[in-house]
This record gives sequence, structure tokens and C-alpha cells, in this order.
Amino acid sequence: MRVYVTGGAGQVGRALAATGPDGMACVGLSSADLDVTDADAVRRWSREHLAGGDVIVNCAAYTRVDDAESDAAAATAVNVDGAAHLAEASAAIGARLVHLSTDYVFDGPAAPRPPDRTAPYEPDDVGGDPPSVYGRTKLAGERAVRAHDPAATIVRTAWVYTGGDGDFVGTMRRLAAERDVLTVVDDQLGSPTYAPDLARGLWQLIEQDAGRGAVLHATNAGQTTWYGLAREVLALDGLDPDRVRPCTTADFPRPAPRPAYSVLSPRSWTGAGLAPLPDWRDALRAALVR
Ligand SMILES: NC(=O)c1ccc[n+]([C@@H]2O[C@H](COP(=O)([O-])OP(=O)(O)OC[C@H]3O[C@@H](n4cnc5c(N)ncnc54)[C@H](OP(=O)(O)O)[C@@H]3O)[C@@H](O)[C@H]2O)c1
Repeated sequence: MRVYVTGGAGQVGRALAATGPDGMACVGLSSADLDVTDADAVRRWSREHLAGGDVIVNCAAYTRVDDAESDAAAATAVNVDGAAHLAEASAAIGARLVHLSTDYVFDGPAAPRPPDRTAPYEPDDVGGDPPSVYGRTKLAGERAVRAHDPAATIVRTAWVYTGGDGDFVGTMRRLAAERDVLTVVDDQLGSPTYAPDLARGLWQLIEQDAGRGAVLHATNAGQTTWYGLAREVLALDGLDPDRVRPCTTADFPRPAPRPAYSVLSPRSWTGAGLAPLPDWRDALRAALVR
């Protein structure tokens, strides 16, 4: 059995390559190796490489949530059409598709969920009207995957980081070295998720052949705000967490609306027989304290 990882050069794709179990053949594919938006290229690639029993983990995505607001066509090409092409290929060949999705598929504070929601989202809580272009394309991608390959597993995650350049945790570390005070949003709740923990969970899913046809939620356990996460980053680096000051989402207007509440219930994941991911604080310590 081979495991092909589309979007293999991205954050989750690289974590999958780094955590693969011994003896598992893991093949990462960058967009240069396989452009998932090209239907003919995906068909050709699947005929030449994919065998029944192989696995595709689709980490390829248009993830620039603010740019997506003004370039819906590009986001749709990757997040909807690309996902559909892979699902067509997996269904045609009898391979297994594991498709990555996001907390942005939920409606957020708009409707029908109240803004003061405090119960973590279950997979079926999707209302069908995500407020951002990114969220709408990811939800349409989930539906395209399900339409073409009913056995595919959809895994939604949230707030993924490795601590490297460019992600939230890496950015907080850089800013802490450059500035005295960091002002960080304190009115969005979510579960920071360390990419290698998510990747180990995905490997368990593959090895146990769990969750066929299901939508599962996989994040580190517990919840905090971006402000809470930033404070913990500074504390673990031996810096004064009081250098982080809270602000509101409205203080930092962005093109794409951010979900106020992104906490995903682990019940679908553990119900599929999979080990819960560690608490977010333990995961952050593992990421930063080496
Ligand atoms: N990061 C998060 O916080 C987060 C949260 C929730 C869900 N997710 C989901 O998790 C999955 C993986 O995200 P990530 O954090 O690893 O994203 P990422 O680091 O932005 O990686 C996405 C990858 O997709 C590839 N890609 C883009 N267009 C492509 C195309 N046309 N054909 C093939 N590959 C293409 C990119 O490759 P090139 O660079 O070669 O173009 C990039 O390596 C996505 O489905 C995302 O929606 C992420």
C-alpha cells in the first residue's frame, strides 16, 4: 500500500512525511508534481500510479483566506474542483481518499448558531452558509468529495501550526524578539493544533482503516483564544506573558471574516476508535521546548 499526499510541501503534508510509520511508503506530491486543478493530469496520474488499496491524503488547498475573498475562482479551482478530481480518481480505482477540511465550514456567528455558542461543533452542525469565500469553497469541496466517493473520509481540523516561519506560533516568537508589546485578538475561541499531532492521528486513521464514509474532527484537546495562545508561547520561551495585550477582532479588520468560535468536538474522532489528540498546552510545549 502506498500513501500519496497531495499538497505534500505544505504544513500538514510535511508533518505527514516526518511522522510516517516505519515501512509505510509515503509519497509527497507538490503542486509541481501534480496540479489537482487539472482534471486530465489527475486522471493520467491516477492511471499511471494509483492502485486499489492505495491511499490519497488530500492536503492540497488554497489556504490564503484573505486573498480568497477577491479570488474566489482560484480558491474554487483548488478547494472544490481539485478535491472533486481526486475523489473521482479514488472512486474509479478503489483507492482510499482522506480529505482535509476546516472549521471555516461552519456558519460562525452569523446564523443559525448563536454568537455565544459554547458547545463544540459536531460534524453535522454545518449550516450551509459559511461567511468566508474560503469556508464556502472548503464546504463545497467536502460535498464534491462525498458526491464522487461516498467512502472518502473528511477530516476537519483547525488552527494548525508547526512553530515555523509564517504560522501564528512562529510569528509570535518573531514579534516577541522585535517588540515590547504584542496585541493579539482575544475574542476568537479555538483549539491550537500541532501539525505533527494531527499527522500522527491521520496515520492511525490510515493504519486502522477507520472512519470510511465519515466526517471526523481532529484537533488538539482544549480551547483558548489567539491571545491565550500567544501568552503561552511567550511563557514557554521564558518571556513575560504580560507583554501580550488583548484586543478584539474589530480592532484588526481583515478581508475575510474569522470564525468567533472554532472548537470542534472530538466525539466523532474517538467514536471511530482513534486516540484523542493531546491537550493543546502539552502539544505546544512539545513543539517549543526541545
Ligand atoms: N493551516 C491551518 O490552520 C488549517 C486549519 C484548518 C484546516 N486546514 C486544512 O488542512 C489542509 C492542509 O493545510 P496546510 O496548513 O498544510 O496548508 P498549506 O501549508 O497552505 O499547504 C497547502 C498546499 O496545497 C498545495 N496546493 C495549492 N494549490 C495546489 C494545486 N493546484 N495542486 C496541488 N497542490 C496545491 C500547496 O502547494 P504549492 O505550495 O506547491 O502550491 C501547498 O503546499 C487544507 O485542506 C486546509 O484547508 C488547515
